[in-house]
Amino acid sequence: MSCANKLRGTSLCVSRVRSPVGTGSCARHSCVEAAARFGDGGEQICDGGLIGVASVFSDDIAIDLGTVNTLVYVVGRGIILDEPSAVALKTVGGMREVVAVGLKAKAMLGRTPETIELIRPLRDGVIADFIATEAMLRQFIKRAKSKFGFRRPRILICVPASATPVERRAVYETVVSSGSRQVFIVEEPVAAAIGAGMPVDEPRGSMVVDIGGGTTDIAVLSLGGVMQARSLRCAGNAFDEAIIRFVRRRHQLLIGEANAERIKIEAGTALVGGGSRAVDIHIRGRDLRQGRPKSIVLTPSNIAEALDGPIDSITEFILRALEDLPPNVAADICETGVCLTGGGALIVGLDTELARRVGVPFTVPSGPMHCVIRGSATIVEELDERRHLLLTP
Ligand SMILES: Nc1ncnc2c1ncn2[C@@H]1O[C@H](COP(=O)(O)OP(=O)(O)OP(=O)(O)O)[C@@H](O)[C@H]1O
Ligand SMILES: [Mg+2]
Repeated sequence: MSCANKLRGTSLCVSRVRSPVGTGSCARHSCVEAAARFGDGGEQICDGGLIGVASVFSDDIAIDLGTVNTLVYVVGRGIILDEPSAVALKTVGGMREVVAVGLKAKAMLGRTPETIELIRPLRDGVIADFIATEAMLRQFIKRAKSKFGFRRPRILICVPASATPVERRAVYETVVSSGSRQVFIVEEPVAAAIGAGMPVDEPRGSMVVDIGGGTTDIAVLSLGGVMQARSLRCAGNAFDEAIIRFVRRRHQLLIGEANAERIKIEAGTALVGGGSRAVDIHIRGRDLRQGRPKSIVLTPSNIAEALDGPIDSITEFILRALEDLPPNVAADICETGVCLTGGGALIVGLDTELARRVGVPFTVPSGPMHCVIRGSATIVEELDERRHLLLTP
């Protein structure tokens, strides 16, 4: 939520409020919000005197280190980076050397010579390649550091709710060695709930389901604390794989992951019948029987059919999470509904389909892919009040 009260002076501070979207006051300066204004990162801009000056040169950073995308938020500056989690590496004399990270690395996909290797350093939300993750984070942090900041930054970073203590420790150590002076860890769906503007501080249960690239994470919060956090290794990448399997089974056509993701984004729907998606999509791939290039057409209904399996797994996961809650909290959620965030929330009709299958209402907040970074930013800015949400590395 944004507070756009520029009442005095020119210094700007970016801070956040915990009140529900649309109303509230600046948590730091008690200025009542007149007109909500949202930046890309949902940042709240208000006149804050000396605190404002300090935050412009702040060295506090929040990072959403995702399987598919990494976002970086700097206190006082907002979201300064939103790039694919990708690293291009060259092996020279047995040593791996970083050629490019993020957008530049992803642009090389399918165009790399044999000597260059393109790596997705995270798998299912956790680090799969430590050296590549560290190299990527080091570059991202370098870009985030204030020109005027001399200290190494304090960094808050998210992990999936199912990350084991060993996986959390790996993230912690990788961020420390990427150049930070203090590292805080928080569960991704907890950040998503706060970033989605859910009333997490009120005495009633709020449930968020964050469907990212590698994992679907659920968190239930009440009175500012976490009642439940869990994750399932089935999300956007599983949707892509389901499309690949469907096209192979139905049309004997081989397509790659990038093609499957494009189909999902351009024509994907969870609604059998297509819902608002009316356009068919033309696909080229390799015929499995003859080995020749072949073109086929998929309808939105075909894609809904392909996505049925992973949507079913996610439905089961949500039902189990609801079952494990105390009856009063489950009743709160049945009444107020579930908030759907992450890139997976952008699949047309997924909220409607999940509402039909689970039997509770689902809503998608604005900018669902930015909820985790917005929530992480809130936590890093309100560290004293939110310290109980942090995990030990
Ligand atoms: N418009 C869209 N429609 C459907 N899916 C989309 C759309 N835009 C992005 N996605 C998908 O969202 C996923 C990425 O979402 P997100 O950035 O939330 O994941 P992540 O945070 O990197 O992953 P994780 O949280 O699992 O580690 C990808 O699978 C991508 O294909
Ligand atoms: Mg994510």
